Amino acid sequence: MAHFEDPTNEYSTVHSSSEGEVLSRLRRATWLSTTKPQMLSDPIQGRFLAIISKMIKPVRILELGTFTGYSTICLSEGLEKGGVIDTVEINDELQEIHEKYFKEAGISEIVRRHYGHALEIMKSGEIEGPYDLIWIDADKEHQIEYVEFAISKLKTGGWLLIDNVIWGGSVFDKKKLTKADSGASRIHRLNQYIVECKKVENVLIPVWDGLQVLRKI
Ligand SMILES: C[S@@+](CC[C@H](N)C(=O)[O-])C[C@H]1O[C@@H](n2cnc3c(N)ncnc32)[C@H](O)[C@@H]1O
Repeated sequence: MAHFEDPTNEYSTVHSSSEGEVLSRLRRATWLSTTKPQMLSDPIQGRFLAIISKMIKPVRILELGTFTGYSTICLSEGLEKGGVIDTVEINDELQEIHEKYFKEAGISEIVRRHYGHALEIMKSGEIEGPYDLIWIDADKEHQIEYVEFAISKLKTGGWLLIDNVIWGGSVFDKKKLTKADSGASRIHRLNQYIVECKKVENVLIPVWDGLQVLRKI
């Protein structure tokens, strides 16, 4: 989600590497052709994903929540030669934009696109792993199932990143937490699950809308 109204974010964006021409055009196309363009990662989040991927140097990446493919392209920047990225998206109307921009970014051959509900795709065996890096940025209803699955598919020492774990500050809003089915309660349960999970070590980074970084032990 874009945060240009935040001066810290704006200053940081100006003093970070540019997203580049293809991603800039994809950003514009996303705003012109989709109904919820605010779901797009902003430039600094994209550069963050790219640089993390370059640090990890993954051979296999899994992404849940492709949207228009912006973060797919960013993550692919760190892939080792011969590496592949699996990306899962429920909305198959986005196929045209994926085809166009994955081609322009030169990654058509290394992206495996999976269309359908992430839970169904997970059950189908289409995505097997093991993965070096997994990025979860899909729906928030099934986060614990996604995280359990992701941990089971990570290599030992592999990395899992999860977006929106502060949920606009609602995870520490006691009133919102009283409703068991609210987004706040779900995300709070997720954060509790992660910190108690013996299979990972983690840090919840209080940037943007909160980012969980997990390493499989
Ligand atoms: C926040 S957007 C992803 C943004 C993208 N990662 C980026 O950085 O530009 C979330 C995406 O998850 C997809 N999504 C929602 N529920 C899903 C599900 N159950 N399975 C797979 N994808 C889902 C939505 O259609 C949407 O495209």
